[in-house]
Amino acid sequence: MANDTLTVTDNRTGKTYEIPISNGAIRAMDLRQIKANPGDFGLVTYDPGFSNTACCKSAITFIDGEKGILRYRGYPIEQLAERSTFLETSYLLIHGELPSKRQLDDWMFHITHHTFIHENIKQLLDGFRYDAHPMGVFVSTLAGLSTFYPEAHKIHDAGVRDRQVYRLIAKAPTLAAFAFRHSVGMPYAYPDNDLSYAGNFLNMMFRTTEAKFKPNPVLEHALDVLFVLHADHEQNCSTNAMRGVGSSDVDPYSAMAAAAAALFGPLHGGANEEVLKMLREIGDTKNIPAYIKRVKNKEVRLMGFGHRVYKNFDPRSTIIKKVAEQVFEVTGRSPLIDIALELERIALQDDYFITHKLYPNVDFYSGIIYEAMRFPVAMFPVLFAIGRTPGWLAQWEEMLGDPDHRIARPLQVFIGSAARDYAPIDQRQKSDK
Ligand code: CMC
Repeated sequence: MANDTLTVTDNRTGKTYEIPISNGAIRAMDLRQIKANPGDFGLVTYDPGFSNTACCKSAITFIDGEKGILRYRGYPIEQLAERSTFLETSYLLIHGELPSKRQLDDWMFHITHHTFIHENIKQLLDGFRYDAHPMGVFVSTLAGLSTFYPEAHKIHDAGVRDRQVYRLIAKAPTLAAFAFRHSVGMPYAYPDNDLSYAGNFLNMMFRTTEAKFKPNPVLEHALDVLFVLHADHEQNCSTNAMRGVGSSDVDPYSAMAAAAAALFGPLHGGANEEVLKMLREIGDTKNIPAYIKRVKNKEVRLMGFGHRVYKNFDPRSTIIKKVAEQVFEVTGRSPLIDIALELERIALQDDYFITHKLYPNVDFYSGIIYEAMRFPVAMFPVLFAIGRTPGWLAQWEEMLGDPDHRIARPLQVFIGSAARDYAPIDQRQKSDK
């Protein structure tokens, strides 16, 4: 008998099956042969939230949640955060290897020269209410881009795909900054192609009357590092949306709008916004014990804590903590950082958090840095989306090139009524006398 197999005995029938194991996984379809009787559909797995289901094979990002390891294409996140840049990391995620000097120059040239958006998008932006949440605006304008690039539906053409990749990485910051400027009633600041990716984003966000915006190099670097840390995270909720929606062969703008919409939720990319609201609500370190009590009573969750995969520590949060100190040297120390540090200290000693394996995640400190850099809270999930763009695109491209990929179409375990006959309305049992 081969070693890499699983032997399953169905106690309903007494039959035994041998199922191959490959890369630590069995194929769910191999369970379908297990039937209680010939008319049976066959055995399926029930896995809400996909806690133990691999939906694809991927060579992009590796996470070991127990050891706190995160690697993009084999490179440790700590090395990339310290030595790479966001655009180089984006190239790595999408192409699988670090670029040569010429490849990087080409890549940066293309992305820099796709930063402008069609002027009509400004009219689309103007249609939103003055107080529209920038993430809602970002998601909508992203979807709107598909109407500007009808060629994008040719997803099996590598050259067409390359162009959309340039456009999406280049235009995400422009859409994001324009969404912000609209929400504060400021004129749109156009991209400045002399600046770095992060520097240009700061320019489009904050430029006022100066002829040439000069980003603070420490803040520019910090933002670039934050983008690197957010660039991919294997099969998270929004990436799953990107792959799931993209599996219908829709254009990447529509798929990425779906991914960004998933990121908007408070349990995912919206968590950094929630962290800041929570820290403000706590207001003072003396209120922390009472807040922890509410968390343990399950009245509230400690936002920025916990992760489906990391059960020891989130390596991104360790790097972010260091970046925070660099940023505060420029911006001054945020009073919220002291509340956050004390909250972390108390929580990490508390039995509830220890037994539930709850540690600070990437969102716990990122919001405090963004706030110190003068980003409004509503922009936090948008910042996350800019960083995650290359990851979504890399995963989308990988899916399209995977011969195993099919349209995402999960099953259900049906627990509703058996077949019954339609009754005319006057013959139905009345419950509303
Ligand atoms: N505060 C208090 N209790 C928590 C928390 C928390 N933040 N997270 C999980 N728990 C408890 C939960 O109540 C449950 O307890 P019990 O077993 O006693 O019922 C247990 O831990 C397991 O929780 P779960 O919801 O089944 O865990 P999950 O793996 O489905 O959820 C999570 C992961 C990230 C959604 C969750 O930890 C959470 O809601 N955290 C707060 C939101 C947050 O910070 N999200 C950002 C995630 S990192 C950025 C990203 O990748 O999106």
